[in-house]
Amino acid sequence: MYAFSKAVNSIHSEDVKKLMKQASGKNLISFAGGMPNNDLFPVEQIDEIYNSLPEDIKKLCFQYGPTSGYPPLVNSLQSYLENKGVAVGDNKILITTGSLQAISIITQEFVNEGDIILTENPCFVGALTVFETAGAEIHSIPIDKDGIDIKALKNKIASLDRKPKFLYVTPNYHNPAGIIYTPERKRELLEVLSGTGIILVEDDAYSDLYFDQAEKHLTRSMKSFGVQDVEIIYTGSFSKILGPGFRLGFMLSSEEIFDKAETVKQALDACTSNFMQIIANEFLTRNKLEPYLKFLRNEYSDRKNLLQKHLKTYMPPEITWNEPKGGFYTWLKLPSHVRSTDIFKESVARGVVFVTGRTFDPASKKDDRLRLSFSNMPKDQIEKGVKILSEAIKHVLQNSKMVIS
Ligand SMILES: Cc1ncc(COP(=O)(O)O)c(C=O)c1O
Repeated sequence: MYAFSKAVNSIHSEDVKKLMKQASGKNLISFAGGMPNNDLFPVEQIDEIYNSLPEDIKKLCFQYGPTSGYPPLVNSLQSYLENKGVAVGDNKILITTGSLQAISIITQEFVNEGDIILTENPCFVGALTVFETAGAEIHSIPIDKDGIDIKALKNKIASLDRKPKFLYVTPNYHNPAGIIYTPERKRELLEVLSGTGIILVEDDAYSDLYFDQAEKHLTRSMKSFGVQDVEIIYTGSFSKILGPGFRLGFMLSSEEIFDKAETVKQALDACTSNFMQIIANEFLTRNKLEPYLKFLRNEYSDRKNLLQKHLKTYMPPEITWNEPKGGFYTWLKLPSHVRSTDIFKESVARGVVFVTGRTFDPASKKDDRLRLSFSNMPKDQIEKGVKILSEAIKHVLQNSKMVIS
């Protein structure tokens, strides 16, 4: 037997492994994967970009690069962020291998075993795996339709005997809850953290994927609110706007935090793939991103509308859900006596897969929800998938009534 280190210990890791398999399972209708749609990737544009690169840049693609990132990409990313209204100011950008690596780097930089991290409940399961493998003590705060529960956050901070290392939140088009924080809630959150010394990690993987142009302003990042006495580390990703196969993300932070983060990254993988950074940089500088995002917003919005329509048609009255304004996810609520894990078994037997609510609970218990991801769904399968899922839910509800009576 080997003696594994404490780091290889996460209750959510098995969930993630299962999720990645199920999401790409061939014979199931899958609402599981929080991933972009295979049929929407800009394959021809990327072909064209690579083929048109000068020979010396093509050669550079194959080479190592600076740990902090390919300098032209750092520059174009700065313009992209400023166009989005994210104030870069004195902050520095570190390019990472996916934004999950940024979350890992931040965790390695600040968290020792037993340290406290605050999260939302529910919370992005990839981040939970990072925090658990670091041996952190996770304390979660519920969210409602407008964002994190401010009173619960205040009470939590007051009740702790040690200062949490950071609060990790996903304010725009939350994974899995699909909500966006209201501007008031973002402000209130900053007020609570103000002066506490608790760092805010603002994960903004989905903000470009709003469905209504008129609501773009609601995606404004807390990093750009100009608050001086809250340290904010902002993370972003190319995964949802270009493709997760690029494994490209970034973090924006103060220089002091950047310096340490760069050292951590050096020990992890020395640098992010130059190949991917060069292609992504060309995509940005040739002004291909915005038109592509317009196309994606329409496609995802169509899928969201279809899902809403069929949920209304087929779901029993006991089931409720939100209508997301952007992103990939709809979060269904079950009656309190039914567990999403029971529905999962019934639904998979009938050919439809989704992600159970407990997957996103840091304590791996709360199971009265299920996440439907509409992003990687062929439009013509959504109705069939919802119909099968609703039959599975009705079956479980019926059985649970028999048990109660
Ligand atoms: C909220 C959130 N943050 C970060 C990520 C990770 O993205 P990346 O592919 O950039 O590592 C995801 C991916 O699903 C996500 O949902």
